[in-house]
Amino acid sequence: MTSPRRRRLVAGNWKMHRTGPEAVELIQQLRDGYTPGRAEVMVAPPFTALESASRALEGSGIALGAQNVHWEPQGAFTGEISAGMLRAVGCTFVIVGHSERRQLFGETDAWVSKKARAVLHAGMRPVVCIGETLADRDGGRTLEVCSSQLHGSLAGVAVEEMNHVVLAYEPVWAIGTGRNATPAQAQEVHAHVRELLVRLFGRPVGEAVRILYGGSVKADNAAELLGQADVDGALVGGASLKAQEFLAIVAAAT
Ligand code: PGA
Repeated sequence: MTSPRRRRLVAGNWKMHRTGPEAVELIQQLRDGYTPGRAEVMVAPPFTALESASRALEGSGIALGAQNVHWEPQGAFTGEISAGMLRAVGCTFVIVGHSERRQLFGETDAWVSKKARAVLHAGMRPVVCIGETLADRDGGRTLEVCSSQLHGSLAGVAVEEMNHVVLAYEPVWAIGTGRNATPAQAQEVHAHVRELLVRLFGRPVGEAVRILYGGSVKADNAAELLGQADVDGALVGGASLKAQEFLAIVAAAT
């Protein structure tokens, strides 16, 4: 079981799905079946649905997150959205460094760390994603790759800021593939990440930071994954678009 000091977090990454009205409908279904409990819950709709999602979530106890952010506060950055803008619409979390952004849009660790710091400075919590590819895993480089991403993605984040940071371990080969890491594989990386956090920021911080697992989390594998000592929650993609399935994952975390 997760340490009682760490409150579990179940986060839904909706990716490029749902318009504003569709987001409101899904949130209504979630509200109908959700009773706030021990676990924290967050949903991250696309930018264009944030405003209506924010209103639909009012008083629900479910937090609002964004899927990406630019690190500058404002300026000539066509197509980008700042942390202040996300805060103004009601976001309290922002996912940064998702592997789809790293792989498809060329995001580097240096960018991810700038984004994480911008999110922190705006008073929100970054969910910093790391994870190895199948080639990394097959080549025996999983821990090395995750360590290097962790170092790079948290560069410049101060110790005092770390209690607002959430990490997500998402093996790239498990995302959207229906092939999740086994609980033992997840626990191995989570424990390694926690040791690294202890080395970088000290034991109290390392023990307190939440590390989510992501990659094909479903209602039927959530309990087993969340049963691991260092798995403090889930970052859920596909299954977060189905209210009943997502609520079942939340129930498994509670
Ligand atoms: P998945 O996505 O649950 O559909 O595998 C997880 C994620 O990308 O955050």
